[in-house]
Amino acid sequence: MSTPTNPTPAPEGAGTDSVIDLHRQHMAQLNDASMTADGTPPEDEEPDTIQRLLDVLARENAEPRDGFEPVPFWVACVFGTLLAWGGYYIGTNSADFRRDVFDRTDLSSASSGAAVANVPDPDPQTLEELMKIGAQKFSAVCASCHQPNGQGKPAENIPPLDGSEWLVGDQASAARQCRIVLYGLSGPVTVKGRTYNAVMPNQGNIMKDYEIAAVLTYVRNSWSNAADKGKPPAITAATVRAARAKEGSRKTNGSQPVSMPELQKLPLEYSDVAPATPPEKKDEKKDPPKQ
Ligand code: HEC
Repeated sequence: MSTPTNPTPAPEGAGTDSVIDLHRQHMAQLNDASMTADGTPPEDEEPDTIQRLLDVLARENAEPRDGFEPVPFWVACVFGTLLAWGGYYIGTNSADFRRDVFDRTDLSSASSGAAVANVPDPDPQTLEELMKIGAQKFSAVCASCHQPNGQGKPAENIPPLDGSEWLVGDQASAARQCRIVLYGLSGPVTVKGRTYNAVMPNQGNIMKDYEIAAVLTYVRNSWSNAADKGKPPAITAATVRAARAKEGSRKTNGSQPVSMPELQKLPLEYSDVAPATPPEKKDEKKDPPKQ
């Protein structure tokens, strides 16, 4: 820009003119207030430029720096409030951190409004009481498969309970019946001359001992069945509890169902309960009191 020597080749025949023009241009540059003689911006503009730079910096955010900043006050307030509320909530709703706090309590007494904690399960002993609870349990749990009239659904591989030899006939025993309901039944089973092969679901992890006793008493004594007629009920909560105990660690979650051959290995006269309780016979000659 500031080189005075021949910046553009002058057109031919206009030599003098172009030299003069160049000189004029140069002089104009020199006189230009915004330019100094050597073509750099004049000194007096510098403060202005610096001011503009400072303005730009002032508009930008502060440069982030290493190190810890103090927690903003509002954050401390919000979290402090949350913490206090959480502590209060746990304190009032922890139920003293009792480990049984989530145990399922008996639903029938819960719905009737009774106090549910620490109330022992009922243990009905009479035929009437067992039949009453059993009727409710049967319609809630079993009737969808075995039908309210106990006929089952043979077309869908579900055997009847009415007249079944497993309840009132030559296969019937309390020990076998308890196991069917506790653990479920799978594999072929013959009922009233027909073989069924399906899976009966386990109830031992859902129903309580007295409920299983009641529902078994119900199916043993409904429709044409009359297994306990005129006798003390053969199955109470104690019978079911004893069957569970005899089976030890067998799972009631359906992974270890019983089968017909397994049930038949239990002799009909076999009983899980200690031979002190059954009302009838049982060898009294054994175990004379030792003293
Ligand atoms: C999901 C359907 C279903 C439900 C619910 C059910 N069962 Fe069963 N039950 C069956 C099937 C299927 C069999 C046959 C299993 C097999 O083939 O091994 C059976 C077999 C039986 C047997 C032995 C065979 C017989 O017919 O006597 C008894 C006793 C029995 N169930 C009682 C009950 C009782 C009591 C309940 C309610 C607590 C109940 N069942 C709930 C489907 C069911």
